[in-house]
Amino acid sequence: MTPPAVPAPRKLFVTTALPYANAPFHIGHLMEYIQADVWVRFQRMQGHEVHFVCADDAHGAPIMLKAQSEGITPEQLIARVGASHTEDWRRYGISFDTTHSTHSPENTELAQSIYRALRDWRPSLIGTKTIEQFYDPVKGMFLADRYIKGTCPKCGAQDQNGDNCEVCGSTYAPTDLIDPRSALTGARPELRESPHLFFRLSDPEVVAFLERWTKATPLQPEVYNKIQEWLGDGGRALNDWDISRDPPYFGIDIPDAPGKYFYVWLDAPIGYLAALKKHFDSGAARRAYPGETRTFDQFLADPGVEQYHFIGKDIVYFHTLFWPAMLHFSGRKTPTNVFVHGFLVMASGEKMSKSRGTGISPQRYVESGLNPEWLRYYIAAKLNERVEDLDFNPDDFVARVNSDLVGKYVNIASRAAGFVDKHFGGALAYSPKVAGELAHAARDATKLAADAYAARRFGQVVRDAMAIADRINEAFDQARPWTLAKDPAHRADLQDACSRALAGFKLLTVLLAPILPVTASRVAREFFGLGRDFTWADGAVLPDRVGAYSHLLARIDPKQLDALLLGPAAAPSPQPSRAPSGEGGNAAASAPAAVKPKAGPTPAAAAASPSPQRGEGQGEGADAATITIDDFAKVDLRIARIVNAEHVDGADKLLRLTLDVGEGRHRTVFAGIKSAYDPAVLVGRLTPMVANLAPRKMKFGLSEGMVLAASGDGPGIYLLAPDAGAEPGMRVK
Ligand code: 2FM
Ligand code: ZN
Repeated sequence: MTPPAVPAPRKLFVTTALPYANAPFHIGHLMEYIQADVWVRFQRMQGHEVHFVCADDAHGAPIMLKAQSEGITPEQLIARVGASHTEDWRRYGISFDTTHSTHSPENTELAQSIYRALRDWRPSLIGTKTIEQFYDPVKGMFLADRYIKGTCPKCGAQDQNGDNCEVCGSTYAPTDLIDPRSALTGARPELRESPHLFFRLSDPEVVAFLERWTKATPLQPEVYNKIQEWLGDGGRALNDWDISRDPPYFGIDIPDAPGKYFYVWLDAPIGYLAALKKHFDSGAARRAYPGETRTFDQFLADPGVEQYHFIGKDIVYFHTLFWPAMLHFSGRKTPTNVFVHGFLVMASGEKMSKSRGTGISPQRYVESGLNPEWLRYYIAAKLNERVEDLDFNPDDFVARVNSDLVGKYVNIASRAAGFVDKHFGGALAYSPKVAGELAHAARDATKLAADAYAARRFGQVVRDAMAIADRINEAFDQARPWTLAKDPAHRADLQDACSRALAGFKLLTVLLAPILPVTASRVAREFFGLGRDFTWADGAVLPDRVGAYSHLLARIDPKQLDALLLGPAAAPSPQPSRAPSGEGGNAAASAPAAVKPKAGPTPAAAAASPSPQRGEGQGEGADAATITIDDFAKVDLRIARIVNAEHVDGADKLLRLTLDVGEGRHRTVFAGIKSAYDPAVLVGRLTPMVANLAPRKMKFGLSEGMVLAASGDGPGIYLLAPDAGAEPGMRVK
């Protein structure tokens, strides 16, 4: 008899969107990484060959300007932020096989070669058009819409964006603005001409290809419908895509177009390929799969390789129009699918987007001692295959982790293992009838979960797993093991009840392994003594023994989360006279309910140190008393450069900042911003400080001033930053 054919492993190339290298992750990023990571881990457990890569999206004007404002090079900025990204991927168990940067030789080579192929297509898909654009004569650069402000031409609201008005909602061209000015320098922009290069998205051949690709790709219905709108009327609504930028710009040179750079969005998705190239060139792909002996080019040329991109709903246009077209017309494989998710929103309805820091900071979450697997579990439990937004509800988070994950799942092992250890030396045994039924039920459960995982219906997996956990706990209760244990005549019944419960626990651990990799690995290696991690097939194999049970997952203490959500509302540079710990500035932490800070820039110390006003119930929510300009003038606000930032031994909330205020010496300031900032990301930044605050002797040393930060009702603390051009020592007035 020939054995049943084992299906050949699939070969998958998987990415998430590439994060901009200008800021640490927001929880919205984390959601996408968790979604992709769970899917990838599931595929690996199935035995498929997965190459899961990412890179920092390192180019563009915002990164260039941010580096300038910090007085560092873009390379220094992207290295610093890149380190924080790598650290967060590690902390949250995001199992990229290789991570890279779009500012890399691989990306330069690939972007230039893809561009050449598009340009040399007959007829060429690259065109040139001279465009008129606002130019900042002071800064000496063309201004993207976001760097132009002015008065709305429709409703007259002042200080509106270059392309839309937040007051009346109308959209317009920056040239329509009344009294336009540069957001970088305040200068009046001039209209100047410059030749730009365009990708001919509207070319009939491109439109025809996109129609074919869209129909042949199993896109989510919401995504498909959106693309149909864009492609409607034979693509007549499509605009050609401006892919060039003028200097100064941080980007990749366009071949044969001196002084022109690729627009960041041209080389960003090519970064997917650059990361995969590094993955192959470095030997990492072959180390992971010794049978994979092909080169990057050979691998990508294989029509059997499946290519998937996980992205947010805000970047569908780039990934379903430009990206497949760029790939196809440069002779490359097009994406097998693009998996689109919605945004994470706080229960209050505020979007936790990549650009707006609202809600829980992933850095602060980990640094406060919360377990990343709790967050993975909660987010996975909410994810499905649709493009809808997800609510982050703190109470629901605590309830799901405590009642479901710990109360139902972990509880099974902690209840049954003690009996097995004490009475049977760890041995499990099933009556033959039970064993057959159990294995059958386990196979059914793994099949259902496999279908759900493959289709990204992770919430379904979690719901089904918890229903199984309920049944296991009920059956265990009904068997009354604590009574059986008292009577030697029921020894076999006791062993049977415990064995069934622990077989169920093993099944559940396999089902949840893509979501809880650390916990599952411990269960496989330590509890079931497997000496390796679980594969998917292990779910239906009944275990025959267990080791001693050791504590697996704790419950969340809701206070931990409260502290994260409401905790220190701002960045105190402590005034320790009323802070016995010497760390100061923790009034908000100790009495969060009483303090409802108002959003807006707030002197950090006032926000969080126990000032007399606060003691009298007049927190920041109350309007401050009116002051005269002379009162204000007493405050010497200066621009400082953070030349060093570090943790303070023994201090929970403080960072020690070394500041250059242009005085020819450095100052030390202790700021209560540890929960919000990784010190590494602060070095080089400019921020305003109160320079004439009386120095204070603290437990950790002398604090010589106060930095300023904004905070609102949420957990965030946001250091203020001056516009480009400010220098250390400049007066703020
Ligand atoms: O929206 C963003 O955050 C971009 N950095 C995503 C780029 S995805 C890919 F194209 F690189
Ligand atoms: Zn308006």
